[in-house]
Amino acid sequence: MKFPYSEKVLEHFRNPRNVGKIDDADGKATVGSPACGDMVAVYIKVDPKDSRISDVKFESYGCASNIATGSIITELAKGRTLEEAKSITWTQASDALGGLPKIKAHCSVLAVDGLRSAIQNYEEKHGLVKDMTPTTVDVVRRRLGKVMNPLTGLDMVRTNLVKEIEIKDGEVKIVVDLPDNHQFAPNIKEEVIDKIESLWDVKKVVVEFTE
Ligand code: FES
Repeated sequence: MKFPYSEKVLEHFRNPRNVGKIDDADGKATVGSPACGDMVAVYIKVDPKDSRISDVKFESYGCASNIATGSIITELAKGRTLEEAKSITWTQASDALGGLPKIKAHCSVLAVDGLRSAIQNYEEKHGLVKDMTPTTVDVVRRRLGKVMNPLTGLDMVRTNLVKEIEIKDGEVKIVVDLPDNHQFAPNIKEEVIDKIESLWDVKKVVVEFTE
């Protein structure tokens, strides 16, 4: 049987570049794919002098294409300005890998989304966001739609884990439909805070569990 991957994909899968975590990252994001439930985390260091990505690393919790695209996207982004890195497309990522099978297109979309979300996280934390629209319940819900439910591999909105969202005076309260001693409660809490606290007008995020 012929392997559906190009030599380049296999090479990046076997020897992925820039794997790991940056503990003192300036921007970071974990995103999941609704198509398959896989995830990728991207960490960036930014040189504030010229807004260039001085370092970038990724962790993949997915398939061979996910690993290979994480590897190629970090290579493409390193040394670029934030604006340049933001405009890297999934087609470029896939082309740089010598093409991906059609059924695996979402894997490169996921890697690009991870990079863009890490840049967005950096911009939000550094007051560089131009859109100053007040945060609404819908905005919060959309962000929670990117937090994965480790029990199912789908996001926490689709799997009905979000019981309540309340916004008052810059404080966002989210009630999660899980007992607080659940094995994944600490991870979910951390992810939720991470996704919401960087919104420009949010001062505090409170995560509560139902039991
Ligand atoms: Fe899930 Fe590739 S199959 S990212």
